[in-house]
Amino acid sequence: MSPTRQCLAIVLAAGEGTRMKSARPKVLHPVGGKPMLTHVLDLVAEAGAQTVAAVVGPGRDDVADAARQALPEAQIFVQTERLGTAHAVLAAKAALQAKPDDVLVLFADTPLVTAATLARLRAALADGAALAALGFEPADPTGYGRLVVDGGQLVAIREHKDASEAEREIKLCNAGLMALSGQHALALLEAIGNANVQKEFYLTDAVEVARKAGLKSVHVVASAQEVMGVNDRVQLSAAEAIFQNRMRENIMREGATLVAPETVFFSFDTKIGRDVLIEPNVVFGPGCIVEDGAIIHAFSHLEGAHVRARATVGPYARLRPGADLGEGAKVGNFVEIKSAHVGAGAKISHLSYIGDASVGADANIGAGTITCNYDGYNKFKTQIGAGAFVGSNSSLVAPVTIGDGAYVGSGSVITQDVAPDALALERGQQVEKPGWAIRFRASLAGTPKKRP
Ligand code: UD1
Ligand code: CA
Repeated sequence: MSPTRQCLAIVLAAGEGTRMKSARPKVLHPVGGKPMLTHVLDLVAEAGAQTVAAVVGPGRDDVADAARQALPEAQIFVQTERLGTAHAVLAAKAALQAKPDDVLVLFADTPLVTAATLARLRAALADGAALAALGFEPADPTGYGRLVVDGGQLVAIREHKDASEAEREIKLCNAGLMALSGQHALALLEAIGNANVQKEFYLTDAVEVARKAGLKSVHVVASAQEVMGVNDRVQLSAAEAIFQNRMRENIMREGATLVAPETVFFSFDTKIGRDVLIEPNVVFGPGCIVEDGAIIHAFSHLEGAHVRARATVGPYARLRPGADLGEGAKVGNFVEIKSAHVGAGAKISHLSYIGDASVGADANIGAGTITCNYDGYNKFKTQIGAGAFVGSNSSLVAPVTIGDGAYVGSGSVITQDVAPDALALERGQQVEKPGWAIRFRASLAGTPKKRP
């Protein structure tokens, strides 16, 4: 397609979404950790739309703010009354008046559409159609508009409620998305009336208006999965499942091994390198990068974490935002890391909490070590030097620094800085009483033991 064609994308986001039964507007519910509206705005940007308009319902500042956050240059229009999809598109009349080459109309509750499909719709316009509708064949067509096709041309889209018995037999349905020639879009939309069962201004009627004006309409077919719309939480979970399958396939095709892909969950922005091994039951929240050769063992939860090359995580590890594991570092079972840089080759193998900290290269953090980073009011930093050895079950009370190569004796509560290469011990002197146990038992001989 010619890159010089100007494209306006209009994203309809005025839906009430009452079937979600949620305090949150429907289009802000996430799929793969990203609001559905943001999926669609990212998509139109990727598809090359130079101008993007979002149509929101009255008083929906939350939706408008989310649109601006996703795409700062997005123009926001308010549809003051919900009078139908054509009426909603006309809320963006000011954008349509610029007469771009292509106008794409999308629904913010249809988040899985691909840029390739938008390219096919735009290609139909470039080939001379005034309108290109997106069709699909759902398992159950009930409720959808039907595409009435005659001799390769699209002659009408009939809403289910307005369709005749014969038209309801048609399997090819309207996905709702449409591409319109910008030269004609405004005139077509303004000619649409509301003489139908729902007394709504239907975007779909643009097809018949175009036909009467001697303009050609066509359709492009997509898979039912790609064009699925989300109206309730059951459909939201179906969209999530489709999204997750796409992510898993992409990640495996890029060279990572997922032993049981159906049990691994990614976010929209998860980046996984080559020869990464991900065992079953792993969840990636937003903002994770896993570099080449790393291993994520089973039952680990990562969010905002950077796992560098050949590092290993888990099983049963939790990496929270700001966890940054150096090359070849090891974070083992029941370890939680938050806002902490762990140096290359460092080991935190068992049962630790390391937060607001830096751990030097090749340091060894014993089982049960805790950084006491919070006093109920403020957070403080713990710095552990390169090659340091922190004995098991130590509490490091921040702010505190353990020097390079220093040792901390097991069970210590460290409240003062430890110099490089020193040993710090903080525990009572061990007392030993020879033969004490023999005397103890003798003193109690004959007394029956009480069972608890
Ligand atoms: C629409 C199509 C139908 C198609 C179906 C696919 C029309 C007339 N019908 O029907 O052919 O099969 O989608 O799901 O276009 N919206 C507004 N303002 C309005 C009305 C709708 O912003 O006044 C938005 C909604 O938020 C939604 C989208 O437009 O995102 C579709 O509206 P909806 O009422 O759900 O249309 P359907 O009846 O499902
Ligand atoms: Ca709908």
